[in-house]
Amino acid sequence: MKSKYAEYYDLLYSHRDFEGEVQFLIEAFKFADFRVNNVLDVGCGSGAHTIALTRKGFKVVGIDLSREMISNAVKKACEAGVKPRFLVGDIRKLTLKRKFDAAVAIYGVLSYFTGDKDLKAALDAIRSYLRRGGIFIFDTWNLLGVYAFKHVYQEPTAEILRWKNFLAVKSMKWRINFENEEAEVKIDCLVLDLMSNKLVDFFKVKLTLKIFTLREIMVNLEESKFKVLRVLSDFSFSSKFTIDSPDIVVVAKRI
Ligand SMILES: C[S@@+](CC[C@H](N)C(=O)[O-])C[C@H]1O[C@@H](n2cnc3c(N)ncnc32)[C@H](O)[C@@H]1O
Repeated sequence: MKSKYAEYYDLLYSHRDFEGEVQFLIEAFKFADFRVNNVLDVGCGSGAHTIALTRKGFKVVGIDLSREMISNAVKKACEAGVKPRFLVGDIRKLTLKRKFDAAVAIYGVLSYFTGDKDLKAALDAIRSYLRRGGIFIFDTWNLLGVYAFKHVYQEPTAEILRWKNFLAVKSMKWRINFENEEAEVKIDCLVLDLMSNKLVDFFKVKLTLKIFTLREIMVNLEESKFKVLRVLSDFSFSSKFTIDSPDIVVVAKRI
């Protein structure tokens, strides 16, 4: 069955500041031991960062598990007049014969690795594609921060979003199991086409995400031979991470 999540991904997340995220990544690349030219975008989804970084002159490879996400990314890159390389696959099983100056995994990609050994396997794989002194940037959720705001997370939320000629009414609810550090995220979405003024779709998505403690992330990064350079609460170097920040943004170096 076609994935509605992939089909409407850009609509569901049209509130995001992709430009700001990309600016942050470029700033973070300066921590590498050399000038960053090649970037691996892990879990690139519909390709926003891959495409924006390619437009800024970086040579980018975007990889995602979802064939539909990649097919949307290829279409968008074509429309943008750029040709990054896109691959369908699981980062843990990828066999590329080259190394990158930087790797990014943006918007909770690491939270898709829910099993105990999954995060380590993903980090080891990412490390194997990075040059020594290369930079790895990612964001995910912070268990204690999510716990501090659990009422906000677990309360159903509704948002109205617009992308191209579509308008979405998206409602979302998290059910968090703090014992196994997992959240079941349920998204219901109504899609209206503003050209025809018709309701064109309704779909439900269920995602299972791992919510890590900062310590788990630090220990795993250290075991996979990464040095943590910055821990932030947002895609901004002035954002300060505190123990109750719901989000964690990490800049690490492959040592
Ligand atoms: C929330 S999306 C983030 C997409 C994009 N990075 C962004 O910022 O919008 C997470 C993506 O990770 C991909 N993903 C999950 N597990 C993966 C794996 N093992 N290997 C590669 N991609 C994976 C999913 O298919 C999904 O597109």
